[in-house]
Amino acid sequence: MTSKCLLVPFVLAALTLSTTFSLQPDQQQKVLLVSFDGFRWDYLYKVPTPHFHYVMKHGVHVKQVTNIFITKTYPNHYTLVTGLFAESHGIVANDMFDPILNKSFSLDHMNIYDSDFWEEATPIWITNQRAGHASGAAMWPGADVRIHKSFPTHYMPYNESVSFEDRVAKIIEWFTSKEPINLGLLYWEDPDDMGHHLGPESPLMGPVISDIDNKLGYLIQRLKKAKLWNNLNLIITSDHGMTQCSEERVIELDQYLDKDHYTLIDQSPVAAILPKEGKFDEVYEALAHAHPNLTVYKKEEIPGRWHYRYNSRIQPIIAVADKGWYILQNKSEDFMLGNHGYDNALAEMHPIFLAQGPAFRKNFTKEAMNSTDLYPLLCHLLNITTMPHNGSFRNVQDLLSSVTPSQIPYTQSTTLLLGSVRPEEYEQEEAYPYFIGVALGSIIVLVFSVIFIKHLIRSQIPALQDMQAEISQPLLQA
Ligand SMILES: *[C@@H]1O[C@H](CO)[C@@H](O)[C@H](O)[C@H]1NC(C)=O
Ligand SMILES: *[C@@H]1O[C@H](CO)[C@@H](O)[C@H](O)[C@H]1NC(C)=O
Ligand SMILES: *[C@@H]1O[C@H](CO)[C@@H](O)[C@H](O)[C@H]1NC(C)=O
Ligand SMILES: *[C@@H]1O[C@H](CO)[C@@H](O)[C@H](O)[C@H]1NC(C)=O
Ligand SMILES: *[C@@H]1O[C@H](CO)[C@@H](O)[C@H](O)[C@H]1NC(C)=O
Ligand SMILES: *[C@@H]1O[C@H](CO)[C@@H](O)[C@H](O)[C@H]1NC(C)=O
Ligand SMILES: *[C@@H]1O[C@H](CO)[C@@H](O)[C@H](O)[C@H]1NC(C)=O
Ligand SMILES: *[C@@H]1O[C@H](CO)[C@@H](O)[C@H](O)[C@H]1NC(C)=O
Ligand SMILES: [Zn+2]
Repeated sequence: MTSKCLLVPFVLAALTLSTTFSLQPDQQQKVLLVSFDGFRWDYLYKVPTPHFHYVMKHGVHVKQVTNIFITKTYPNHYTLVTGLFAESHGIVANDMFDPILNKSFSLDHMNIYDSDFWEEATPIWITNQRAGHASGAAMWPGADVRIHKSFPTHYMPYNESVSFEDRVAKIIEWFTSKEPINLGLLYWEDPDDMGHHLGPESPLMGPVISDIDNKLGYLIQRLKKAKLWNNLNLIITSDHGMTQCSEERVIELDQYLDKDHYTLIDQSPVAAILPKEGKFDEVYEALAHAHPNLTVYKKEEIPGRWHYRYNSRIQPIIAVADKGWYILQNKSEDFMLGNHGYDNALAEMHPIFLAQGPAFRKNFTKEAMNSTDLYPLLCHLLNITTMPHNGSFRNVQDLLSSVTPSQIPYTQSTTLLLGSVRPEEYEQEEAYPYFIGVALGSIIVLVFSVIFIKHLIRSQIPALQDMQAEISQPLLQA
């Protein structure tokens, strides 16, 4: 009789405690950020992708992620880890010339290791390490470059021949080592490589996407085997999408411009043009009305929504091709059936975004986000202070289970404690009420457990008393 009466508050207290714990935002979080280069947002629906859908069902999915202009690999990967637009982080293209440094940067020649190009920003792995944590990067673009005199705690020097399995093995090793990382970064070159080669509309892209889905399946399996799956936040994203090109849609600069009047710093679909001394007007006029599918901007006229103006590495003239159009110097140059780099407002340029783990809601779909918002989200999860950035934590905090206002009514204790806090104050105020919640819950559970167990031992179950005697025997003999 008495034990039943005790059971009710016990269960209530336990429930309060567990919900309070699951809502606690500042638990030490582990994060693995994965980028499948060039994975367009709608590839998820091209062929069955059971592993991606498994993550979506157990986590969150954002349908439209607006990445940054230009929609190229290096600019966007640096945005993911800094939260800055290209003009602010300084990696404005895969191929650049900095007139102040008088230096070039080129992905084509892997001439990307000059620290000067990277130091207008501080990537998250450095901030994470300065806060006393450890980071590990498996081929993440730029993570093997010395930036502000440091590298990730662990990293693999870039080598595209290293298999996905070997990269995953390193990530697992770092997460499970004696001094484990709390932030892992994993990069894979496809489906970008094959997307360029085949064109995204090719039926042969089906098997390429299936292969990526299998790779994700492999990663999930390894994480489960390493007992990381339940306590790690896995974020799967990419840098940009891909659109179909065609030899019918080529813009040849040689048809409009004298080769001797300019230097072509970056080519397609955003041509970065540096006119020779005294040739600016001539080059601009020749190009401005050259082709209906080419929009030409003087640097100071580049649309504000691109946030692509205030950096010396952005050239005096840029010429942007319409979707699916290709800029070449002349037709004897290399041409690819798929490309990206176009206006970031185009859906076909958009990447995927999925996440699952203890910090994230389950089976939740969000319509849209900006890729700059990932950085403050990561900093929140890692419990580190953000550097100045262009994102907004508030715009993505609904992805998280702990700071979701709609979940709070489910728990009595937190409703009571947070009742007077306005939604916009959650960010600053969250820690204090949760601590009180946890403390109260713990005390209640502890008190009731002691009473309950004492009660059981004394009167209800004699067998337990026998067991106690047995347990204590070896101790007496010792
Ligand atoms: C978050 O970081 C602060 C110091 O910046 C530290 O006092 C606090 O304990 C950390 N929280 C967790 C859950 O690690
Ligand atoms: C820029 O560097 C090149 C060599 O890469 C050199 O020839 C040129 O003189 C330099 N220009 C200036 C202004 O220093
Ligand atoms: C790149 O990785 C491949 C496969 O692991 C290896 O055979 C090759 O030696 C590596 N190249 C360099 C430069 O380390
Ligand atoms: C290319 O230009 C033509 C003529 O202005 C236009 O009708 C067409 O829509 C453009 N193509 C794209 C993909 O914008
Ligand atoms: C086409 O452009 C390339 C690279 O700029 C150049 O080497 C080649 O001579 C050009 N071909 C013709 C036919 O002009
Ligand atoms: C996930 O959510 C959708 C609608 O948002 C719902 O139809 C579906 O049943 C949910 N699935 C699970 C496994 O909860
Ligand atoms: C993206 O950022 C812009 C401002 O930079 C903002 O107006 C817009 O609402 C943001 N989009 C989302 C989905 O949060
Ligand atoms: C982006 O953030 C940087 C760093 O805070 C700032 O200097 C820049 O003005 C911001 N850009 C925009 C468009 O707000
Ligand atoms: Zn890319």
